[in-house]
Amino acid sequence: MRTLLTKAVIPAAGLGTRFLPATKAQPKEMLPVVDKPAIQYVVEEAITAGIQDVLIITGRGKRSLADHFDRSFELEYYLKRADKLDELNGIVEISESADFYFARQPEPLGLGHAILMSKAHVGNEPFAVLLADDLMAPNSTVLSEMMILNQNTNKIILALKEVKPEEISMYGCVSYKETENANVVKITEVVEKPEPEAAPSKLAIMGRYVFSSDIFDYISQIAPGKNGELQLTDAIQLYLQDHEVLGYVFTDGRYDIGNKLDYLKTNFEFALNRPDLKEGVIEILKDLSRRYL
Ligand code: G1P
Repeated sequence: MRTLLTKAVIPAAGLGTRFLPATKAQPKEMLPVVDKPAIQYVVEEAITAGIQDVLIITGRGKRSLADHFDRSFELEYYLKRADKLDELNGIVEISESADFYFARQPEPLGLGHAILMSKAHVGNEPFAVLLADDLMAPNSTVLSEMMILNQNTNKIILALKEVKPEEISMYGCVSYKETENANVVKITEVVEKPEPEAAPSKLAIMGRYVFSSDIFDYISQIAPGKNGELQLTDAIQLYLQDHEVLGYVFTDGRYDIGNKLDYLKTNFEFALNRPDLKEGVIEILKDLSRRYL
C-alpha cells in the first residue's frame, strides 16, 4: 500500500514586487480577492482535496500569514459580544480546519529553494505544492484528480493548461507524449519560461504539483537558472532523467493573480459568482462601461 498524501506545501516567501507599493509592508498572498486573502482560497482548496497538514513557507515581513491562520481570541470575543456570528464562524472555521505549520526561507533564492525548506517537515511522504498566484475555481477537482493519479502511479504529477503562444514565457513549459487517457500526458522535457519561438509546446505548468519526497535530492543538485534563481522546473528536468513524470491537463477554472490586470479580473469574476454580490457588481460594470467605453 502506498503512503497516502496528507501534506500540502504553499510557498509564500516571494517579494511581491509586481504589486508594489501594495506589498511593501504586507505579503502579496494576503491581498484580498473579494473579501478573503488570496492564500486562504489555496488553503481551502487543499482542505477540500482532503489535506489537513499545511506548511506555508514564509520569509521576511510575512508574519501576518501566521496570524491569519491562527485563532484570534480578542476578535472572537468581540464578534461574539456583538452577535456577529457568521463572521465569528468564518474566522474560527479556517483556523480549525487544518494544522498549520510555518518554515522560513532565509533568502529569496527561488521557488526550488523555497520547496527545499519543507524537506524536514515532509519526510518520506508524497506531498502537494500549491502556488498562491494561481487560484482554482471553488469547485475545482484538479488537485484531487492529481492526487488520485499519484496514488495510482506513484509518479510526480504536474498540472498543465494550454496558454496562448505569447503567454508561454510566463510559465514553465513541457514537451510531452499523449497517453490513452485524454487528461494525462507523459512529460519528456520541462523548460522554465522559454521564449515563444523556443517553447516546446503550448502546455504550461500551472501552480499545482504532486511530488514524491525524492524530488528534494534533485533540488539539492541544481544550479541557479532563470533569473539566477534555483528553479523548481530545473529540478524536475533533472528528475526526468531518472524517472517518469506525468502531466494532468485541465482546461478551465484557473485564475491568475500574479499580475495587476488578471488580479482585478479575478476579483470581478469571484464577486460575480457570489449571490450576495452579483447584482451589485453587474450594476457597477454597466455603469463603468457606460462611462468609459
Ligand atoms: C512559477 C514556476 C513556473 C510556473 C508558474 C505557475 O513561476 O516557476 O514554472 O509555470 O509558477 O504560475 P512564477 O509565476 O512564480 O514566476
